[in-house]
Parts: sequence; C-alpha cells; structure tokens
Amino acid sequence: MRFQQILTYAVAVAFLSGASWVQAGGKYRVEAVSNQQYQDECGACHFAYQPGLLPARSWRKLMDNLADHFGENAEFDEADRLVLLAYLEKNSADKSGSYLSRKVMRSLPRKGTVMKISKLGFMAHEHDEIPRRLFKDSLQGLTNCNDCHQRAEQGSYNEREIKIPGYGRWDD
Ligand code: HEC
Ligand code: HEC
Repeated sequence: MRFQQILTYAVAVAFLSGASWVQAGGKYRVEAVSNQQYQDECGACHFAYQPGLLPARSWRKLMDNLADHFGENAEFDEADRLVLLAYLEKNSADKSGSYLSRKVMRSLPRKGTVMKISKLGFMAHEHDEIPRRLFKDSLQGLTNCNDCHQRAEQGSYNEREIKIPGYGRWDD
C-alpha cells in the first residue's frame, strides 16, 4: 500500500471503531452487575452500584459496616456477605481497566476511604450543571443513577443517554 492508502485506511478504521464505541455506550462505562444476589440484596433500597465504581478498600469498609449503613440496617447472612464482598473486590475499580474505573481511581483523596460514589471529585464536577431544583422531589441527590442515566443498569453513563425526571432529555 502506498502511504496515502494506508492513511485513508487508518482513518476509516478509526472512524468505524469510533462509531461502534459510541453505540456501545461510549467511554463512560463499567461492567454491568453480573451477580443476581448482589442485584437483589444491594438493589433493594437503591440502584445496585456496579463494583467498578469504587475501589476494593471502599467496598470492604461498606461491607464491614452494614449494621449502620448510612443510618439504615442493611445487614444480612454472614456467608452471603462474604460471597458478595468477594464479588465486589474481584470487580472493583482497582481491578477493572475501564476508563470510568480509572477515573474513579484518579479522583480518590490521598487520605481516608471514600464511602460514596457521589462524593468522588469528578462526580461533583460532572453533575454541577444540573439545576438544584430538580433534586427536590423525585430525586435524592445522585443516589439513584438510573433516575437519569437511562442505561445505568447496563453500566453505561454516556452523556447522550440522560433524561432527568421533571426536566427531560439532557442536551449539553
Ligand atoms: C435497607 C436499605 C439499604 C440496603 C439493603 C442497602 N443500602 Fe446502600 N444505602 C442506603 C441508604 C439510605 C444510603 C444513603 C443514600 C443517600 O445518602 O442518598 C445508601 C448508600 C449507599 C452507597 C453510597 C451511594 C452514593 O451516594 O454514592 C453505596 C456505595 C451503597 N449504599 C452500597 C450498598 C451495598 C453494596 C449494599 C448491599 C450490601 C447496600 N448498599 C444495601 C440504604 C441501603
Ligand atoms: C439527577 C440526574 C442524575 C443522576 C441521579 C445521576 N446523574 Fe450522572 N449525569 C447527569 C447529567 C445531567 C450529566 C452531565 C452530562 C454532561 O453534560 O456532560 C451526568 C454525567 C455523568 C457522567 C459523565 C458522562 C459523560 O459522558 O460525560 C458520569 C460518569 C455519571 N454521570 C455517573 C453517574 C453515576 C455513577 C450516578 C449515580 C451514583 C449518577 N451519574 C447519577 C445526571 C445524573
């Protein structure tokens, strides 16, 4: 191939893979929840957060303190707890290579252990354009990612798949 042909080919490949990348949910995605028990137990009161949204250290601390889980008792069977902890650790942000997980890792504070995804630095930054009034009724802050991110359950947080209750589609 001549240089120009190679170049045209390279651009075409980049374009095509770029298109399927967007279709698959863009770069802001993590592995979807694949453990039914986790989905049931940890999705009972709020959205079942994907393990790739926090580091293992955070999951361990959360799972060690379920008797006082943000003011609620979320305790359950010890054998099950250990199974779920192992699932979380194995798929945590420090084990996942996804762009979003790496972003989580980069935004961790030097000290302490983060207990809330919604408190990560980049999360505040990504969400600072949402009018505060929209948080008043149906939404509890950012707790339920799937209130707005239409494909959150598939692990996709692409900015083109957002619809806010009481506001509509988010076009930025
Ligand atoms: C009995 C209800 C209940 C159950 C069951 C429950 N949670 Fe929660 N969880 C809460 C409440 C309440 C909050 C605080 C929500 C808030 O402040 O907006 C919370 C918050 C969280 C947060 C922080 C969310 C954020 O803002 O980033 C994580 C992470 C979390 N829970 C993980 C889990 C995991 C893992 C399980 C399963 C072991 C679980 N939860 C089970 C009630 C529950
Ligand atoms: C009240 C609605 C709402 C809730 C709840 C919410 N988000 Fe968002 N999210 C948005 C909006 C709006 C944006 C900004 C999109 C833009 O313009 O860049 C955003 C952006 C993001 C982005 C960056 C996407 C991109 O393509 O730039 C990520 C990642 C994200 N949210 C994750 C989460 C997670 C994880 C949760 C749950 C812990 C959550 N969001 C809860 C509305 C919400």
